[in-house]
Amino acid sequence: MAKAEDLKRIADDAVKDIAAAADEAALEAVRVTYLSRKDGLVTGATKAIATLPNAERPAYGQAVNEAKRRIEAALDERSAALRGGAIEKSLGEIADLTLPPRRLRLGHMHPVSRTIRDVSRIFGTMGFETIEGPEIDNDYYSFEALNIPAGHPAREKWDTLWISNPLGDDPAQPLLGRPHTSPMQVRVMERRRPPIRVLIPGRCYRYEATDAIRESIFFQYEGLAIDESLNMSDLKGVLYSFARQYFGPEHRVRFRPDYFPFTEPSAEIAFSCFICEGKDPSCHTCGGDGWIEAAGCGMVHPDVLRRVGYDPDHYQGFAFGGGIERLAMLKTGTPDIRLLYQNDLRYLESV
Ligand code: PHE
Repeated sequence: MAKAEDLKRIADDAVKDIAAAADEAALEAVRVTYLSRKDGLVTGATKAIATLPNAERPAYGQAVNEAKRRIEAALDERSAALRGGAIEKSLGEIADLTLPPRRLRLGHMHPVSRTIRDVSRIFGTMGFETIEGPEIDNDYYSFEALNIPAGHPAREKWDTLWISNPLGDDPAQPLLGRPHTSPMQVRVMERRRPPIRVLIPGRCYRYEATDAIRESIFFQYEGLAIDESLNMSDLKGVLYSFARQYFGPEHRVRFRPDYFPFTEPSAEIAFSCFICEGKDPSCHTCGGDGWIEAAGCGMVHPDVLRRVGYDPDHYQGFAFGGGIERLAMLKTGTPDIRLLYQNDLRYLESV
């Protein structure tokens, strides 16, 4: 005849066996002995409930549940202890906690990206908003609108990489990788009304052989300011302020007349050569004359203003455009532009 005491005894035995199980396999064997659905000892005792008179059933049922609960709790506890022990053991085997940690390799900005950020920030302090424009543009914005019609000798200054349009070429409006960022002068003036102060950094393309200071794919920054009373001294002031903020006071700056079809008057700004300081006539970086041309600039030509619907008697402004890599080279002492694009981390991490 089934008795509640039997169940207490079964559970006592089970708890002892569980405590004695040395590993997870042994523990599983104990579980099967007591709780297996088919022939576990507790399962057998549960079935015996059917042989009891009704009055004894509730007490017996409680005893069954209590036995099950004790066994299951003991199983869980022992299993957790065994698993913890296994982890500790394996840690002891494979991890040498005295080893120094592996060095974390953090990336950093490419010098060209850093220069774009610095240039935008400095002109930003003078009220210039940084925007971007298309790298592929057409003949109109790259040349025509800038007073450089087809056949104009100045086109030779911008050796152009023409692009064929997969949707079909328009002979009147051929596409090109923009050879400078100046097309954005026109695009911005078409879209906005003065006052305008924008800075446009971006990639440019020229059909050109590479050398120490030239690449066929490179970056420029373009600046444009249009207002009611801007003049050359504003332009000079902005560019001098930029040079001082970017380089500090020690670099010399040269400002002298130049020619661009879309500015009048035009000027060129150059910085003293950081490699030879003008002392080496065979210097590869400055070509021997001691100066590195950094930007072209000037007052926006009245014809350019008229073309976008501005009255030159009412609005004037200045524009400037220069090479980002030159600035990066000057700042980091990089003697050859190609070092910036060979993706050799030994070099890039050093600047
Ligand atoms: N876009 C000219 C160049 O690439 C530079 C320039 C920009 C000159 C703006 C004048 C005004 O050489």
